Amino acid sequence: MEVVFYVAIALLALFFIDAILGIVNSIWESRLRAQRFQLEAKDLKDQLLRQEKTQVVSGSLKWKGYRRFRVSNRVMEAQDICSFYLSPLDEEAICPYEPGQHLGFKFQIPGESKHLIRTYSLSSGDPISNTYRVTIKKVPPPPGTSHPPGRGSSYFHEDLEIGSTIEVKAPAGKFCLDRHDQRPAVFIAGGIGVTPLLSMLEAICDKKIDRVCHFFHAVRNSDDHAFAQSLKELAEGNPNVSLHTYYSSPKEDSVLEDGIKTGFLSIDAIKDTVGHIEAQFYLCGPPPMMGALVPALEEAGVTSSDILLEAFGPASVKKKKDPESGDQKTDQGKLNSKTRKIHFSKSDVTVPWDGSSSILDMAEEHDVEIESSCRAGSCGTCQVKVVSGKISYEDEPSAEPDAGNCLSCVGMPEGDVEIDA
Ligand code: FES
Repeated sequence: MEVVFYVAIALLALFFIDAILGIVNSIWESRLRAQRFQLEAKDLKDQLLRQEKTQVVSGSLKWKGYRRFRVSNRVMEAQDICSFYLSPLDEEAICPYEPGQHLGFKFQIPGESKHLIRTYSLSSGDPISNTYRVTIKKVPPPPGTSHPPGRGSSYFHEDLEIGSTIEVKAPAGKFCLDRHDQRPAVFIAGGIGVTPLLSMLEAICDKKIDRVCHFFHAVRNSDDHAFAQSLKELAEGNPNVSLHTYYSSPKEDSVLEDGIKTGFLSIDAIKDTVGHIEAQFYLCGPPPMMGALVPALEEAGVTSSDILLEAFGPASVKKKKDPESGDQKTDQGKLNSKTRKIHFSKSDVTVPWDGSSSILDMAEEHDVEIESSCRAGSCGTCQVKVVSGKISYEDEPSAEPDAGNCLSCVGMPEGDVEIDA
């Protein structure tokens, strides 16, 4: 009888414990649900705020000319690579940009009388905090030369502190993500060329676009490896994204992280990874890398229109001309063009136009100095005054030269011209 009593008590106790555990469990679950709900509501609120702000921004016009911005933060991303966060001094909304575009800057180096004009790709931007971000590598003097270090990048690194202000042009540039193409996107970045491509990849991931993305990033070693963590997180968080990193000259004592390969990025590595050429290829890197990979992609059968590129440094990369695009001049055209002369008035040099080169190419060929940067009509660095004559452009450049000036890197003479250089 006693045994039955104790068994009943034990069963009763078990029943109560089970009931209490059930209650605790359901309280715990409802708490988790509430937390989840709060997080989702916050996400939704952020999204709405972002959309609302973007709509306000989209409705406003891009500003003309220069607008003053303040450096609101600086973050070192790797050795000699710094991100600058910029907010407008007038606190009005910034305008939206297409991933891949750049900002133009005008500034004066202390002690110099002339302004410098430079463009730097947007690595990111945020309508909520109303900031743009550009990421700039301090350009060292070329090894074995007496050339000075990059003046523009040195100014940013050495003179622009948090709170400094600078004149900024609205986002511009034609090197942008094609949002309508659904084919795989292959991003090929060399060094600091990662900035516009990172911005494109972020746009794809932010919008949860289900587009296959292969991201190749070639750098010297861990010292130059900017945005390593951001890229890793994008690849880990998005099954459509694969990341391939190459160190051309790894540090002797360093242990490479998983997935990082050594050596130069080659066309074979790209072909092996992508597996086919039905893709859009976005390239941004230094001239040697672009000079090797662009012709190799073309040779592999990728059509010119599927190779979108932006080169930086002292040389431009030319893609093959499409014979159907009318790019090629007729013999008659060449004959006529020979009669056109370019007179560089400051240097007192007169040259016959060769029928296909830009004013900048002609100037350089004859030791006439004109500053340049993008060599693609997008930064405005190469603008020079046209004293007389008319300049035309094969494609409308994205930079707008000041009245009376032309963009010498993409401008060609329509007849005899006099250039103030
Ligand atoms: S060099 Fe950039 S527009 Fe000419």
